[in-house]
Amino acid sequence: MDRTIHVHHLSMTYRVPVRQEGLGAALRSLIHRSYRELAAVDAVSFDLFAGEIVGFIGPNGAGKTTTLKMLSGILHPTGGDADILGFQPWKRQPAFLRRIAIIRGSQPIGGPVELTVMDSLRLQQLIYDVDDRAFKRNLGQLNAMLDLRTLLDRQIRALSLGERMRCGLALNLIYRPEVLFLDEPTIGMDASVVETTRQFIAAYCQETAATVLLTSHYMADVERLCRRVILMDKGTVRYDGDLRTLSERLSPYKILRVSLVGAKALDLSSFGEVDEAENGTYDIRVGRRDVPSVTARLLADFPVTDLAVLEPPLDRVIDRAYRTGVA
Ligand SMILES: Nc1ncnc2c1ncn2[C@@H]1O[C@H](COP(=O)(O)OP(=O)(O)OP(=O)(O)O)[C@@H](O)[C@H]1O
Ligand SMILES: [Mg+2]
Repeated sequence: MDRTIHVHHLSMTYRVPVRQEGLGAALRSLIHRSYRELAAVDAVSFDLFAGEIVGFIGPNGAGKTTTLKMLSGILHPTGGDADILGFQPWKRQPAFLRRIAIIRGSQPIGGPVELTVMDSLRLQQLIYDVDDRAFKRNLGQLNAMLDLRTLLDRQIRALSLGERMRCGLALNLIYRPEVLFLDEPTIGMDASVVETTRQFIAAYCQETAATVLLTSHYMADVERLCRRVILMDKGTVRYDGDLRTLSERLSPYKILRVSLVGAKALDLSSFGEVDEAENGTYDIRVGRRDVPSVTARLLADFPVTDLAVLEPPLDRVIDRAYRTGVA
């Protein structure tokens, strides 16, 4: 596999003004400001490879957006280094900027909002120097995947949030970046668009072997798209590896979902913590190693009509990782 991103001890320390209580202190601070240093990103290292979609997760303030800004050349780091496709991002060389894109779900689309979507795409073609044949081919594919046809002659400023997001993706992908930074790409989208967007990201990555680093607070995005996750907390990498392994490490139990006929208030609690999922269907938390024996006892002693072994919901696993740290 080709390594496309190499990050070594990357750091960003912000200088933030200290505000003191009281009028006197406020006046004094006009003359003499005091600052404190905030290590938003603290010696972060990782490598990414072509074709990977890696989940970049962590609680609010962990340093994810700051890292993405440095890797896309928006911010100059205060320490460490990064190599992306042979470039140092913050030099902002045109040859680098042509090969990467950053898409931030919470940000408006850049560029003049009076233009139609089609004109904006043409503008991107000029800026990124895309030849006509490639433009037509890429547009055809984006059209098919993002269903843009009805949006092409609309003005950017008149688009709804979800429409804007689809167009934002198209505008950034029309020049086929090889490295894609997605900062909460599905924020504010309705369920149908979220699913289309996820499918689209997966398809784009598979077709172009792009490297994708994706931040999201929706664990469903991460679960659907990423095999590998990098978990950040307080500016440092707390875990880098397989998502499944993280889940197994953090939740030593599975969920046995059983349906029982005509049984009510049956005492299942001897098997583990029980929740009634719906009428007659119960979720029992069972230690991973006890799953076979508990299953056997359930089948032998209870009128079971259906039984499934489920992984605990990823949201809960990750929530636990945020609260208690990764062991
Ligand atoms: N321009 C700035 N000046 C000073 N401090 C900043 C600046 N931008 C971010 N920070 C601080 O740096 C830390 C990391 O912020 P960052 O936006 O990278 O977090 P994040 O992981 O993206 O969080 P979220 O999940 O909320 O988006 C936070 O403590 C934040 O308050
Ligand atoms: Mg952020």
